[in-house]
Amino acid sequence: MPTLVVVGLQFGDEGKGKIVDLLAETADLVVRYNGGANAGHTVANDKGTFKLHLVPSGIFNARARCFLGNGAVIDPEVLIQELAGLSAAGIATDRFRVSSRAHVVMPWHKTADAAAEAAKGKAAIGTTGRGIGPCYMDKVSRVGIRIGELLDPDSLCAKIMRMNGPPGFLNGFDFNSVRRWAATLGPAIADTDALARESAAGGERILLEAAQGTMIDLEVGTYPFVTSSYATAAGACIGSGLPPGAIDEVVGVAKAYITRVGNGPMPTELDDEVGAALRRAGNEFGTTTGRPRRCGWFDAPLVRYAAEVNGLHGIILTKLDVLSGMQTLRIATAYEFDGQLRGRPMVNAEPYGRYLPVYEECEPWDEPIAGITDWNDLPAAAQRYVERIEELVGVPIDMVATGPRREDIIKRY
Ligand code: IMP
Repeated sequence: MPTLVVVGLQFGDEGKGKIVDLLAETADLVVRYNGGANAGHTVANDKGTFKLHLVPSGIFNARARCFLGNGAVIDPEVLIQELAGLSAAGIATDRFRVSSRAHVVMPWHKTADAAAEAAKGKAAIGTTGRGIGPCYMDKVSRVGIRIGELLDPDSLCAKIMRMNGPPGFLNGFDFNSVRRWAATLGPAIADTDALARESAAGGERILLEAAQGTMIDLEVGTYPFVTSSYATAAGACIGSGLPPGAIDEVVGVAKAYITRVGNGPMPTELDDEVGAALRRAGNEFGTTTGRPRRCGWFDAPLVRYAAEVNGLHGIILTKLDVLSGMQTLRIATAYEFDGQLRGRPMVNAEPYGRYLPVYEECEPWDEPIAGITDWNDLPAAAQRYVERIEELVGVPIDMVATGPRREDIIKRY
């Protein structure tokens, strides 16, 4: 495996956790490079089922080092809990490091997140409430707190007391928590960008793991209904410290249909019984917030755009098994906007609701396919569905996932 980036091609929740867990089997280093505890990666393997928010899914490979890169924002309480949970399940965490340059999500960032959402009323983004936006705002405003500052808790406490935060931001803040975070996380704090470059120079196999998906990336997603970090392949360099030339390959993960949590455009949304059936069959409820996910038909122009933005070499299509037994099956092949055909998705929110998907009917299949690992064992209609997506997106579908376990996968190329 060369240096590989794994990104999400839709609105997040494409099943990247499972795929990274699988691909990390041969990695020497795994770096999660963006986002924070807004992410929820579910990984089911021989050690159990785990819901990770911060620690890279590569932690289950006993050989790989795992970094949370400088592009991530860290809620220390969540990270401490997650590491403790992994240790309790017998997973060694001594190979885990967090970048000294990653920013710390403080309690007042979460308060500010909730307040900003409430103030927006109907125009709310539907954030996860994990303080992500306000933490990145402080980073960009150059007033944030970096993980490395935990190494000198006294200076950090003094800095916090001098800070010019929102009114009452320190009410109830327990300064002892800073010392506790420092004591627990201190040994894991490192200059991970330098370590990642050394690893690349030494010819190690590196996997760069994105959180969230291309369509909620701050730059190329459906702004303002996006997260505050770079979830695309370009973000892999910014958030890990590796230069662009170090990246060899980019693969993207897409669901065989589409889901979105939170507000914002979603042209192929099924606000009906069919959408509800998909939600039930796919257990489409947020890993982080438990919110029901909006479900819809596979949106080919949207994934084609994501393929273009990320410079994809291959696609991994997940949850194909969820589509068994659907009465109808459709793929959006284009949009109609004010009477004109469009091949690209909207990336600004203003035409929301006026982008109408143009659908192609696909032949559904009844047979359950969960756990199938051989392409030839798939019903012909399921094969045609995958091939049609491949054709419409224009990128090879290397693997097809047929269930939540690591081994539920068809390797095609
Ligand atoms: P934030 O990242 O909490 O600020 O939320 C901004 C938007 O991104 C909201 O629509 C969230 O639902 C969405 N979002 C954030 N993280 C994830 C994720 O890991 N999966 C799917 N959607 C997410």
